[in-house]
Amino acid sequence: MKVLVVGSGGREHALAWKIASDPRVDSVIAAPGSAGIAQVAACADVAVDDVEGLARLARDAGVDLTVVGPEAPLAAGLVDRFRADGLRVFGPDAGGARLEASKAFMKQILVDAGVATARYGEFGDVEAARRFARDLGAPLVVKADGLAAGKGVVVCEDLETADQAIASMLEQGVFGEAGRRVVVEEFLVGEEASFIALCDGRSVVALAPSQDHKAVGDGDRGPNTGGMGAYSPAPVVDDALAGEITSTIIEPTVATLRDRGIDYRGVLYAGLMIHEGKPKVLEYNVRFGDPECQPLMVRLRSSLVDLIEGCVEGDVSGIEVEWNAGAAVCVVMAAGGYPGSYEKGTAISGIEAAGAHEGVEVFHAGTTRDGDGTWRTAGGRVLGVTAGADTVETAVRRAYTAVENIHWDGVHYRRDIAHRALSRQ
Ligand code: AMP
Ligand code: GLY
Repeated sequence: MKVLVVGSGGREHALAWKIASDPRVDSVIAAPGSAGIAQVAACADVAVDDVEGLARLARDAGVDLTVVGPEAPLAAGLVDRFRADGLRVFGPDAGGARLEASKAFMKQILVDAGVATARYGEFGDVEAARRFARDLGAPLVVKADGLAAGKGVVVCEDLETADQAIASMLEQGVFGEAGRRVVVEEFLVGEEASFIALCDGRSVVALAPSQDHKAVGDGDRGPNTGGMGAYSPAPVVDDALAGEITSTIIEPTVATLRDRGIDYRGVLYAGLMIHEGKPKVLEYNVRFGDPECQPLMVRLRSSLVDLIEGCVEGDVSGIEVEWNAGAAVCVVMAAGGYPGSYEKGTAISGIEAAGAHEGVEVFHAGTTRDGDGTWRTAGGRVLGVTAGADTVETAVRRAYTAVENIHWDGVHYRRDIAHRALSRQ
């Protein structure tokens, strides 16, 4: 079969790599893909937001199954368009993608489903939002309702900061349309985890829990990034808790969507806060996490294509997911300056040597390649060096040994990926 992967980042490289290794798959096309993804797929120059162009590509190339990486094309109705054309596609339609595209919608679904989440209010009016902030008291969190490229969440230590965040979104329009309404919510304490499930509209199959590292610096210090690393499993979510999350969070959410006429066939990623063993939902995403996807794909033994087809065809109940390695760790290597402004075009050495280590895959998040084979940086997050092993200690050691092979001017990365898993042992 022929599979189309939509996207161009490290997550999509991991998805294309896993899918390309499937005995049932003859070829993988990536749109637009990247120089890194071109190692495992044929890249087609169609942008992720060009829904018409992607549908045409899928039709003309005879694609049997399309897998969508990022949220934007899902929110823009890619799945609705593909389904209307009779094309098989994995992901929620635009109605389902509102779980990520509108925090107010997500919170309402959680309340309707009886799922634990932070107490909140939704506002379009500055004074009402500020009054509610005073009811909650500091610390508290102010969130732009819509998609804001991961920057729409402000954790406020005091009411003054909250007042400013509310005004910047509702009055100054710093997030444009996305900030025309805000969610103001209670600050939750605990340990975060990512819980990713595949849904067929009714049943769900949970993948192994994972954790990412959002802060740029060791010890979770410094500004937030798109994610500086990730690992799976996350020991904070043991088997019993994973079962509880599936039955008290994921399944009721899918059932509530169903009650609203939303046939949710895609990835449901719950960002959780776990305190004293009790999980609450911070957010939903409608796609795989980046970089959580990278360690998950390295660990997954089951065919991803079988799992995804099960979702698309409407039957994943009873599918058991099998895992290869006991643990996998992804260390993101970033360009100097990231998450602020950074240079592009810097030559990278050592990628091949790094990838030659046992259990190691180097996923490309932002690179280009010259005609002579030289790799160059082309993004803030550049590479995700990912290692699988029997234990998290060995996976960490393998990943960092491989990282040491790779050099470029200004490269930086965290040296403590998976510290929470290691310190629990
Ligand atoms: P979100 O995009 O909603 O996941 O928010 C991004 C990050 O902000 C989360 O990963 C948390 O670290 C933090 N965050 C969001 N909401 C809360 C909350 N209610 N309490 C504490 N931290 C939060
Ligand atoms: N790693 C966080 C995300 O993908 O949203």
